[in-house]
Amino acid sequence: MQVAPSLKSRFEQDGFLVIPGFKPPAEIAALRARAAAIVDAFDPAESTAIFTTKDESKTKSDEYFLTSGDQVRCFFEEEAFDASGALRQPKELSINKIGHAMHDLDPVFERFSRDPRLHELAVELGIVEPRVYQSMYIFKQPHIGGEVRWHQDATYFETEPVSVTTLWFALERADRTNGCLWVQRGGHRTPLRERFVVDDAGSRLERIDYTPWPSDDVAEPVEVEAGTLVVLHGKLPHYSAPNRSAASRHAYTLHFVDARARYAPTNWLQRSDTFPARGFVDG
Ligand code: FE2
Repeated sequence: MQVAPSLKSRFEQDGFLVIPGFKPPAEIAALRARAAAIVDAFDPAESTAIFTTKDESKTKSDEYFLTSGDQVRCFFEEEAFDASGALRQPKELSINKIGHAMHDLDPVFERFSRDPRLHELAVELGIVEPRVYQSMYIFKQPHIGGEVRWHQDATYFETEPVSVTTLWFALERADRTNGCLWVQRGGHRTPLRERFVVDDAGSRLERIDYTPWPSDDVAEPVEVEAGTLVVLHGKLPHYSAPNRSAASRHAYTLHFVDARARYAPTNWLQRSDTFPARGFVDG
């Protein structure tokens, strides 16, 4: 009789896991409604900050992003504005994401994120003291949903040893027509190529290893239904294509690290002693 491989052995083999039906429709509906309310309350005049991992120079000067680690802020899609600076689509169809501390600051997001099953999952994967540093609600809007090029999430959350793990919750169906994730199966065994550093000299993306990014023909689409949880190893190369379809592709992500690992003081997202990163459960 064949015994199904454990989650841990599959994760170690592939660098990612796909767990269908992890979140029930009611929890997804509550999160979506709360995200819509946050966007509704957002005044676009507050900022025209545009998040893109393609052009780091933009991010470099963007204090709005760098100071958002302990805030709830809305970020526009790169293609949200026309040449005259006007929104191409209504505000609610122009926001790229909300970030980055909803899991600690917003009760609805907190309920969704502080799920004891996520603690059990982290422990099963060997991350005994998970600390959730970041939450993002990603809209991947119809027509203008931006591309996120090949990257490894450990670039943004350096720990020694590597421990950052990504939880990616599909809030809608994600497939290749609306910009689903693409991964390099087993690619977490390749070196970390870049690190995003913030220090006295400013912020920058440093190339630390010249292993090329995978060619697109080895990428596998992760096509999933709403409610699916995708878990990514911090060194797994992944990307998502632009969304040119008429359907949005909402997803919610959490990034956690192991408190036993050393968290780099040069990571962009730092938490203060008065607002520490917490686990999925108390204690
Ligand atoms: Fe990522």
